[in-house]
Amino acid sequence: MFSEEQLSEIRERLSIVEFIGEFVQLKKAGKNHKGLCPFHQEKSPSFIVSPDRDTFHCFGCGAGGNLFHFLMKLESLSFPEAVERLAERAGVQVASSGPADPHAKERRDEAFEIHRQAAWYYHCLLKNTPKEHEIWAYLAKRQISDEAIEAFHIGYCPSQESGLAGRLQQKGFKREALEKYSIYRGRREFFRGRLTFPIFRHDKKVVGLGGRLFQEKDEGPKYLNSPESEIFKKGELFYGFHLAKAEIRKKNQVLLVEGYLDVITLHGQGFSQALAPLGTALTPMHAKTLQRQEAEVILLFDGDSAGEEAGLRALEVLLAQGVIPQIVRLDGGEDPDSYLKRFGRLAFEKKLQERRNLLEELIDKWSASLPRGPQALEQRGRVARRLLALIEKIPDSIVQNLYRRRLSEGFDIPEEWLRGNRAFQDRRPVATPRPARLRNWLPEEETLVEVWLRFPSLRPEILQAVEAEDFCTEELGEVVRSFWELAKTEPYGKTGKYLELVPESLLEMFTELTLRPDGLDEVSTAKLSLDEAVVRLKERRLKEDLQALRGSANPQAIHVVHEKIQALSQVLKNKARIYGERKN
Ligand code: UTP
Ligand code: MN
Repeated sequence: MFSEEQLSEIRERLSIVEFIGEFVQLKKAGKNHKGLCPFHQEKSPSFIVSPDRDTFHCFGCGAGGNLFHFLMKLESLSFPEAVERLAERAGVQVASSGPADPHAKERRDEAFEIHRQAAWYYHCLLKNTPKEHEIWAYLAKRQISDEAIEAFHIGYCPSQESGLAGRLQQKGFKREALEKYSIYRGRREFFRGRLTFPIFRHDKKVVGLGGRLFQEKDEGPKYLNSPESEIFKKGELFYGFHLAKAEIRKKNQVLLVEGYLDVITLHGQGFSQALAPLGTALTPMHAKTLQRQEAEVILLFDGDSAGEEAGLRALEVLLAQGVIPQIVRLDGGEDPDSYLKRFGRLAFEKKLQERRNLLEELIDKWSASLPRGPQALEQRGRVARRLLALIEKIPDSIVQNLYRRRLSEGFDIPEEWLRGNRAFQDRRPVATPRPARLRNWLPEEETLVEVWLRFPSLRPEILQAVEAEDFCTEELGEVVRSFWELAKTEPYGKTGKYLELVPESLLEMFTELTLRPDGLDEVSTAKLSLDEAVVRLKERRLKEDLQALRGSANPQAIHVVHEKIQALSQVLKNKARIYGERKN
């Protein structure tokens, strides 16, 4: 599998706070960071990340572990898959024999490299194209600046063979690979005669390309996109996300637009919190990513009826993930790109101020547009039912009911009627907070493990005093044995590293010990608890020995054990006295 050095290197290069921070908005809380748990739905944060220990734990749902565990759980990956993903990101070479498909990683690496090279090649071609070429006239007409070309790595694939294939083959990539990812289709370049827009994943890896025709006379669809591949999943990606992350955090806001060019223009005008899906409808995965940003989501769709439909579809998907979006409608068939260019930044800023909660807007608008009078009752009911269906997507039952009341007011329909036959229920995906699984370990065993995980400086002391055999709880003995083994080489290894040795079924109990707020926090109290626990454990062990000896005919052995017990009790009493005095 993976070597210990490789795993350590990955952990060292990636900060757990930074990594998890990409998915969860974390706020500093003392030494730790806190946020809303991505693994269950909650309103107040019980998800803790500890940079010191390299671990995370959720006190709501019990999820916990290290960086690898986080990614495994988040994206349902196996351990080797998670390691590979993180290794890739950390730039650490890992050779694994683990996953079912041993060539998967090589293929992915090849895919990344081909796309990176192609994007870069077309980008350089564009920059080397003489200024009198028509492509520059087009870029000027669209007001795509040099900065935008750089920031988004925009490129140009000419109508005639560009030489990309030769270059990639020189680098060792086979023709079939170029065709597999549709860089080429047969002999011809897929993006020929188009501006190219590399599509970056959140970690700035190019995973696909979009290409736009720039000459009216050319035939074919306005945009072509790379086909889906093992690295290019349209339903999970946003265009511009890698550049938008920081601004989203800063402004606590996402501008969701429809087109690549909308994103590019918005970023250029200081609205770099803008993102777009890749020309496909918004998926639940998209919505989930947005939900994790914990930011206000503003939809900026065209004012026309297509835009209206798109808004409705997006609304449904977003509501189901607990995102209640705002909407800004741009009039006169403008999209954000054309609007900004026509009316300027200030006008756009003003439009943003006029944003409305989309659900409320629909309630008001649809209710107002309905004809009055008895002949319209049926229609009124139908429209209300449609809105109710949307409202029922909202996972939080309280919020859902607030909107139900809003609908009842807007349509002048009693609230009870809007309940239909449905029971008043909470459909949140995961259960509410529950106590962590009960540890049936001895209290002193628990203390020892807690001190071990929280205070690396005390580990040598524990090692000296306790053997794995001293642990009575079976499931614990195994783990402790592996801890002690690792401690031979890395006594001060980070907690996150030790957690790799813990079987998944026990992980929750271990991580909870590392981060529980009422746990041992100071080295001096930890030391006291540790001493006590050691003595207790030893004492218990000896008593068991004694028990076993009873009935045996060896009084000598019994005597030895007895003496040990006496000595230990004495030590315990002395310690208790010393600490007792210190306290006063
Ligand atoms: P738009 O037509 O709004 O494109 O389509 P745009 O980005 O604003 O570009 P301009 O302003 O017309 O130059 C929105 C998105 O739909 C996808 C692309 O992702 C595009 O950005 N699309 C559009 C396609 O995939 N194929 C098409 O033929 C058209
Ligand atoms: Mn456009």
